Order: sequence, then structure tokens, then C-alpha cells
Amino acid sequence: MTTDSLSNLMDERRTFAPESGFAAAANVDAGWYAAADADREGFWAAQARRLSWASEWSNVLDWSDAPVAKWFVGGKLNVAYNCVDRHVEAGHGDRVAIQWEGESGDARAITYADLRREVSKTANALASLGLRAGDRVAIQLPMIPEAIFAMLACARLGLVHSVVFGGFSPTALRSRVDDAQARLLITSDGQFRRGKAAPMKANTDEAVADCASIEHVLVVRRTGSTVEWTEGRDLWWHDLVDGQSDTHEPEAFDAEHPLFILYTSGTTGNPKGILHTSGGYLTQVAYTHHAVFDLKPESDVYWCTADIGWVTGHSYIVYGPLANGATQVVYEGTPDSPHQGRHFEIIQKYGVTIYYTAPTLIRTFMKWGDEIPAGYDLSSLRLLGSVGEPINPEAWIWYRKHIGGDRCPIVDTWWQTETGAIMISPLPGVTSTKPGSAQRPLPGIGARVVDDAGVEVGPGGGGYLVLDKPWPSMLRGIWGDEERFRETYWSRFADEGFYFAGDGAKYDADGDIWLLGRVDDVMNVSGHRISTTEVESALVSHPSVAEAAVVGAADPTTGQGIVAFVILRGGQDASVVGVLRDHVAKEIGPIAKPRQVLVVPELPKTRSGKIMRRLLRDIAENRAVGDTTTLADSSVMALISSGLNTAS
Ligand code: WT7
Repeated sequence: MTTDSLSNLMDERRTFAPESGFAAAANVDAGWYAAADADREGFWAAQARRLSWASEWSNVLDWSDAPVAKWFVGGKLNVAYNCVDRHVEAGHGDRVAIQWEGESGDARAITYADLRREVSKTANALASLGLRAGDRVAIQLPMIPEAIFAMLACARLGLVHSVVFGGFSPTALRSRVDDAQARLLITSDGQFRRGKAAPMKANTDEAVADCASIEHVLVVRRTGSTVEWTEGRDLWWHDLVDGQSDTHEPEAFDAEHPLFILYTSGTTGNPKGILHTSGGYLTQVAYTHHAVFDLKPESDVYWCTADIGWVTGHSYIVYGPLANGATQVVYEGTPDSPHQGRHFEIIQKYGVTIYYTAPTLIRTFMKWGDEIPAGYDLSSLRLLGSVGEPINPEAWIWYRKHIGGDRCPIVDTWWQTETGAIMISPLPGVTSTKPGSAQRPLPGIGARVVDDAGVEVGPGGGGYLVLDKPWPSMLRGIWGDEERFRETYWSRFADEGFYFAGDGAKYDADGDIWLLGRVDDVMNVSGHRISTTEVESALVSHPSVAEAAVVGAADPTTGQGIVAFVILRGGQDASVVGVLRDHVAKEIGPIAKPRQVLVVPELPKTRSGKIMRRLLRDIAENRAVGDTTTLADSSVMALISSGLNTAS
């Protein structure tokens, strides 16, 4: 690997020291790093004591069967009890757990006492279907409270849930149901999307028509639209659940009892069913939610804008916040429905104090205009979070200024479906933050940047991000495919025993970590490593650019050439292309000057907001566009291609 990488990101010199009042009241202090280093297992044992255990573990970590870890060996707990009942028993039954907001403005406040009743009824209902601990349950639901009741009811019974994002196609759902051999599917008649009722059961019917493992389909009524009905298989939620007893005695399960499977879109091949278990997972999501979001359960109103169909929703809507007794907003709809100020209206309405979202949405807000957030009272906010992709410094600064009132610390949290919980992030009140850098592994976490040979690079050096020590919420495998688990994550640095994250990263002169995107998104131009993120960052730092995606396209002379796809801000036209090429050359260096800058109306994104560079690479290399089934909007590629044809 060459180390003459470009470093415009690391020329970022602005830092933001913690405000003294925030630091004084922060949940953690700088001493946590040293404490965790001095006694890692002792540190994690202390974090595990955030939870209520039915029986204590005998040892903290068993790594003898690496790379399959056992954490809190022999300990027993019930995950749902920890997220629900114990808060009621501690006298917080009247605290709102979920402040649910429907897209159209209908709202429902669910206290911890309500949640205990709802989860108990749901658990009794699932038990009445003959489901037993270890059985798999597929869930495809919109962002409605029943989605959370269903997940927690599974956890309560030791059933393994597999939540499939509501926008996934029948084919995608079918492959996941088949892979996990789910006995039950929980879905709804439909979902509200931008003010319209869209069908859901029609899709799930198609998906499970040939799934032999499915015995029942449990259907929540959300939109009231008419649905097809398969007698004997289909059951209405209100028929089965509403009449159940609202008490249920939770049973304790082993710390390593499987909690859920969540499929990730791998770069190639079938999605991987990432397996997470109970005690270690809940320990780390509770700890990180406490430390990284500085949660004060008595006074904070927390809002994570993810969908429960993704790991962010699992860890930072369902398990982390509820384990910590948080009050949180759960929002059903899209950010621009019925208007582009919807998120700010919700922050104002509920007095949201902690807001956790993705860079793609931040850049969308930038595109919509500064005046929109300026029209709302956002003064309740005290902390902002970012997740999902590297956040470019311009978006970070915009987020801080226009949403965070120049006062809120921003935590840029790096992690993955596989890691289960946050791994690298500033600690609010402790870390002086730097726009664009996730900075340091959390106390208790081991991460480093290494070269091809697995040797750690020095300050200013770039390479691969690896995790060099096991962590409690680590994946325990890929469902049904142990070989792929070893091959994907543990073979690249097998000798060193490192987990290979698949991300490129660098250290700056201070030793802070900068994530540079997936290694498959790192370009090689004339022997120079150039991150797509770096070029994108340079492009969006130009005032005429709203959003940019960059790919490396095969080039006979330079190996790869840089092709940029940009969405311009209002009032700009394609004549700015030459200016943008020069701008990148100026920001990064002549070798980073894009070969082409193509103006497009949209970018192809997955439903979790990740840009599908593979499809853009197809266009850049003049190929037929490949598989678009995981796009949030499948018409986007046609829109991009037709725009390019008319332009040329
Ligand atoms: C990949 C994991 C973690 C929940 C959502 C995505 C990228 C994630 C950051 C960040 C830079 C980030 C990485 C990672 N990523 N957070 N803060 N800075 N990159 O989960 O779908 O499993 O994707 O998202 O490339 O490997 P996921």
C-alpha cells in the first residue's frame, strides 16, 4: 500500500473543545480510557452490571474458540426484562418510553408501564402459536409501535427475530425468510409513505407464498386498506394480541442465546445473516448509548432517525435506549412529509435534546436550505450524532451551525452491522471534536489502522481499519455459513487475529482516526490512493454542489480515472463543471482532478441512504447498469441515464 495518500481531509484544522458545563456534567470522563486499558475484562464486567442478570457469569470472556467469542460465560438474563420491566419495578412506570409520531401527525405516548403490558400481551400471543425459544420470527413492519413490541416480545421468549426493512422487495424478503427458516412473519396491511397508504401485505404475501417454513402471518392493521387473506395462515394482530393477558413472566436465557439475525447487503453475493447474541450485545449497546449520547434518562428526549430495519434501529432505537430507560421519539414517516421542516417541527414539539442521524440526511437538509431549520426552535438540542458513512467536514460544520446552534457537541460514530454497537467515536464532554473524524476507539475497544502486512501505520499514514481485540457486541457468525464468516472477516489478517472491517482509514498527526470509506471504494489513480470520500468532500465544499458521489472508473493510462456525479444546488447549471474539476484539483491536488464531472438529478441510494457506487461505476464505464433491487427508488438509474443521454 502506498502511503502518499492525499490528505485534504486531514488538513481540517478546526477543533471544538468541550464546553465546560457539558464536560462537568458528562456521563464519562477521560479516565475511562486508562481504566479500560488497565483491566479490559474488569471494565466490561462493570459495563455488564448496568444490566440486571438472573445469574452472574463465571468468566467475562472466553476467546478460546476464536473468532467465535463467548462473553459473560454462564450468565443468564432476559433482554426484554432489562429493556422494560426493570424500569417499571424501579418506579419509572409513568416515564414515557416511546413518544411515537405518525407521519400524518397522529401521536401516541407509551410509558414504560404501557410497554410492559404491550410486550407481555405480544409475548403471550406468540407463545400461543407454539413458538419456542430459538425459533426464528421474521418481521417486516413500518415504524409503528408494534414493531418494537414484536421485537421485544421475541427477545422475551428467546425467539430470534430477523427484521427486514419495510422497503425491501418480496424477493429480498423471501430469501431472508428462507435462509433463517422463520416460522412466523409479522407484517402490516400497509404503510404510510408521503401521505399515501402503500401496500405491505401484498408484498409479504408474494414473498412467503412458497416459504414452507412459514406457519402464520400476523398482520397489524395500520392503513385499513383491503388485503388478501389466507385462512388458517393469516391472523390479525388485534384478534390475536389484544385479548391476551397483559402480564407475562420472563424467563432468563444464557448470555450467548441468539437475539437476532440481521442481513447486510454484502458487496457481492447473497446478503449475510449477521448473528447477534444477548448478554454482550445488550451490555455494549447500553454502555455506548450511555457514554456516547450522554443520556440522562430523567431529562433527555432522545431521537434516532433510523428505521428499525437497520442495525442502527436495533441498537439505538430498541435495545440501547430502552435498556437505559430513555424517553425517545419514534417517527413513522419521511423527513419531507408533509413538508421539509418535519424533523425540526418534531424536535420543537417534543423538546428533543439528542438527535442522531445520517450524513446523507444532513446533506439533504443543506440542499433544502438553511432557512428551513432556522424557522423552528431547536434550542432544546444539546448533542448531535452522525452515523453510516464518513461525514464530510462541510456537512459537519453545517450540522453544528444550523442544527446544533454552534453549541452542541457532534459525535461521529463509526460501527457496522457486524460490530453491533458503536466502536469509534468522540466522547462528548471529553473529546475536542474535529469535523470529519470519528477520532478514537471507545474505552474498552481496540481498533487500529494497519498496512497490507498488518503492521500499524504511523501518524499521517493510511491503510485498513482492523479491530484487534474481541468486543462484547461482536457478531457471533453468519447464520448458517461459518466458512463465510471466517473468510469475510478473519482471513485477511489471520496471522494477527484481527477483524477486517473493510474500511480504509488514516491517522492524522494527533493519532485521530479518519474513516475513508470502504476499501472497495478507494481509487487508485496513477499509483496514488485517493478516497472517493476525499473527492466528494472537496466537491461538496464548493458552494454550487449539493451532493456528490465519486467512483474510480477503469482507465487505460492511469489505472483508474475519477468520475464524479454531482447534484447542483438550485440556480446552478452544467456550465460549472469545469470550475468543479479545477476546484477539486485545488482542494486536493492535480492528481485528484476528476476525469469527468457529470451533473445528475439524483444519486442511486440504498434504503439506508448509502450511495450505490457500483451502479455509478457501471455508467462511468459504459456498461449496462447492474442489479438495482436494493435501491430505495428503482427509477433513479433511468433518470440519471436519460439525463446524461440528453446532455451528450
Ligand atoms: C459501514 C457499515 C453503523 C450503522 C449503519 C451502517 C460505514 C458507518 C460510519 C462513520 C465512516 C461509517 C463504514 C462501515 N460507516 N458509520 N461514522 N464514518 N463510515 O451499518 O450498513 O453495516 O455499514 O458503514 O463503511 O463499514 P452498515
